Amino acid sequence: MTAIIVVLLAAILPAKNFGGGFTADHELKAAAKSFNRTAKEVLQPAYPRLAEAIVDELSLQDRSGTGVDIGGGPGDLVLELSSLTPCFFWLDVDLNPFFAEYLFRGALDQGCSERVSFIQADVHKLPFRSDFADVVVSRGSLQQWKDWELAFSEILRILKPGGKAYIGRGFSANLPIETARDVRGRQGGGPRYDPEAFAGRLRGIMNDLDIKDYELKRPKSQQDEVNYGVWIVFRKAD
Ligand SMILES: C[S@@+](CC[C@H](N)C(=O)[O-])C[C@H]1O[C@@H](n2cnc3c(N)ncnc32)[C@H](O)[C@@H]1O
Repeated sequence: MTAIIVVLLAAILPAKNFGGGFTADHELKAAAKSFNRTAKEVLQPAYPRLAEAIVDELSLQDRSGTGVDIGGGPGDLVLELSSLTPCFFWLDVDLNPFFAEYLFRGALDQGCSERVSFIQADVHKLPFRSDFADVVVSRGSLQQWKDWELAFSEILRILKPGGKAYIGRGFSANLPIETARDVRGRQGGGPRYDPEAFAGRLRGIMNDLDIKDYELKRPKSQQDEVNYGVWIVFRKAD
């Protein structure tokens, strides 16, 4: 009986094809609202530092171009990147369309709505032509991707020759340890995974896709007390 009710409800409620299965709109809305709260109330100190690290390490300061944040959620990283790169156009690409309103609201508050946008898309099938983006970034999304080889080959495809990707989870090395400790504390210790195994998987993907020019980052890995995460920075060959 319960199964029949669930099937009937699924048939009449608005739903989206979300990562291989249908998810009702009200669940996607609730997920977007809940993560937006986490971003604003818990993770907030991490975004400006991460944006600074990306802009610095990829030398984006005085450049113009197009940047894509995959799984950008409510757009906190995109907005920070946008304020540091006034000649860049940033796209927040996320599977869940209900994040769009948070990005656009933030862009209006920040006065950069002409330089950012939102596109609903799956990293496994990006709706961009090849050689489209100067930069692709992503934070805290890849652990949810179903097929890393496909996802990373899509990222490689949309990057311009010489373009760079900065992808991973966690924090950047420039986040003060006290702040990182505080954020992890509010997260109840943070996500539990084996950073070494995660790094090994990323190395394997670089190998499989024949990407030679890459750097694997384990910020502050010597301070095992706080897991700063794992990042891969790579460049598409010219
Ligand atoms: C933990 S949130 C991180 C959001 C944002 N990057 C941040 O750091 O604030 C993970 C995000 O990845 C998105 N996501 C998961 N799988 C995805 C996929 N296959 N394609 C695009 N986005 C995806 C989710 O919808 C969610 O917004």
